[in-house]
Amino acid sequence: MANVFADLSVKDLFPTPIWVADLDPDVATRINAELQAAIKELVEPRPQIPLGSTWQTTPMLHKHNRFAEFCALVHKAGAAAMAFLDLKHRNFEITGCWANINPTGGLNSPHTHPNNFLSGVYYVSLPQSSGQIVFADPRPQAASILPPAEKWNKYVGNEIKLEVKEGRMVIFPAWLVHSVPVNRSAEERISMSFNLMFKDFTEAVSKPLWTGSAPIRR
Ligand SMILES: [Fe+2]
Repeated sequence: MANVFADLSVKDLFPTPIWVADLDPDVATRINAELQAAIKELVEPRPQIPLGSTWQTTPMLHKHNRFAEFCALVHKAGAAAMAFLDLKHRNFEITGCWANINPTGGLNSPHTHPNNFLSGVYYVSLPQSSGQIVFADPRPQAASILPPAEKWNKYVGNEIKLEVKEGRMVIFPAWLVHSVPVNRSAEERISMSFNLMFKDFTEAVSKPLWTGSAPIRR
């Protein structure tokens, strides 16, 4: 039978971008050593962490001088993400920045970061085979039928595990549900998390998307 289709294509509608930025290895080694020292200073004396939980610093590290260089990197990466989206208004700030320490058995349950536009994580110290962040499919109804595929691909499954490594920064929409699997190694897993939000959201970004022509009656 003759080919009746003149053209075949697949359009990926409403894609969810995840930005991945790897530091130059030499820069990563230096910054990670500095971050680890600064974090250690903040957490000593170390509180007892209950089994299976995680430990987080204050979310205001972006106000600390020792994290200024890291926050400059976050700004750079955040600006690139907003440029990728071709946004009209890109005036944003870091609204939260903190360190996570996952001891052996530690994990982060599925969650989002409300009241922010973008969120991200940077990996400071990753024990062997503990480098993953898991993103859940934001379309819950899509998992009502999950036929197995011959080989995994991005169109099947209801979660995606992203491999991460020391020196890697991952930025994602703040509304996207994500989690971190159990740290099964004997060493701690250390990462930095951050949130980004428009500085002038109500003034510049949240204006009505259309304007009516009817006059306002008083
Ligand atoms: Fe998170």
